[in-house]
Amino acid sequence: MRADIVVLEGDGIGPEVTAAAVQVLQALAARYGHQFELQRHLIGGAAIDASGEPLPAATLQACQRSDAVLLGAVGGPKWSDPKAKVRPEQGLLALRKGLGLYANLRPVQPHAATLGASPIKPHLLAGVDMIVVRELTGGIYFGDKQRSASAASDLCEYSVAEIERVVRRACQLARGRRGHVVSVDKANVLETSRLWREVATRVAREEFPDVTLEHQLVDSMAMHLIAKPRAFDVIVTENMFGDILTDEASMLAGSLGLLPSASLGEGKVGLYEPIHGSAPDIAGRGIANPCGTILSAALLLRHSLGLDAEAACLEQAVAAVLDAGVLTADLAPAGEAATTAQFTAAVLAQLDLPCHVAELRD
Ligand code: NAD
Ligand code: IPM
Ligand code: MN
Repeated sequence: MRADIVVLEGDGIGPEVTAAAVQVLQALAARYGHQFELQRHLIGGAAIDASGEPLPAATLQACQRSDAVLLGAVGGPKWSDPKAKVRPEQGLLALRKGLGLYANLRPVQPHAATLGASPIKPHLLAGVDMIVVRELTGGIYFGDKQRSASAASDLCEYSVAEIERVVRRACQLARGRRGHVVSVDKANVLETSRLWREVATRVAREEFPDVTLEHQLVDSMAMHLIAKPRAFDVIVTENMFGDILTDEASMLAGSLGLLPSASLGEGKVGLYEPIHGSAPDIAGRGIANPCGTILSAALLLRHSLGLDAEAACLEQAVAAVLDAGVLTADLAPAGEAATTAQFTAAVLAQLDLPCHVAELRD
């Protein structure tokens, strides 16, 4: 097949991890006879430096016209002056909003080879397989912002329609999994959460009688997530809670560098990015873990291009490389770490081997 993919490297380790995922996509295209047209555009700090804007119009237009977008990360100390008029992160938020990507899927499936890197006891981690559906275009991130000399405010707002569509997405996902959804809110304090709980309850009861829905307050959820991670199948929550809980959940897998994400809306374009940031503390050293981005490329193949078999082969290749003990510095014992390039080379070598997956077409 032929597909137009926009690559947004961004800042910090963004160019390093996207380079890895691009190599993998090109290798898969060559191997399975696809034509991926990759087009690079600017976003974040790099775009501010070039044009003064974190999301230039040309970038948004290219993304809107594409089949899928692969993004590294944005931000960094260079653009973090609290008095700065524009910030790299605004570019990412505008892109998510501009593409209507309200559902951010963040799967958490700890891999056997990296359990030792998790601060959580291994017996709690075996069999953990959850997916967090984070609402991505509403809530406190996008409400009215005010600032005076003596005070500041960020408005948190949700409409019924915004809650309905993301809860529906979570329930649909649960149908293909273990049929269990936990909706996370702060309904004991926040009005938006009381609405969230009411709407989630109605959508699940009326449209998904085969799915079980439970509610959990976000503070105790932060505890349950690490105390009994196997209990969770699909978790659906609002924008900021989802942001925080998934960085926490990355510790189940062993490193923030491992987790991928897919951001989807009603349109055909999806955005695929690791959940981590630009990691300024390790940028430019060639040691970043490219797994989260490579696995995001797998989600791109599956969700935007419908290439389920290729996606599964890629996920298998990454698993095999981890199994073989090829680990970047965030996961490896001191002195035994693979560089970003070495890890990527190992994935590419694995992709050369035969791949047997259930999804392979006849
Ligand atoms: P971060 O995710 O960049 O880094 C947190 C820690 O995890 C750091 O110690 C970092 O070295 C490590 N880490 C992250 N990704 C890694 C990887 N792939 N391999 C190895 N180690 C990795 O979070 P932060 O330091 O709080 O934020 C830095 C900047 O990134 C900020 O400007 C923030 O706004 C931005 N950010 C961007 C995104 C995004 O673009 N989607 C996401 C989160 C943070
Ligand atoms: C993420 C990031 C972003 C978010 C920032 C950089 C705007 O933390 O993708 O998780 O909060 O959504
Ligand atoms: Mn985050």
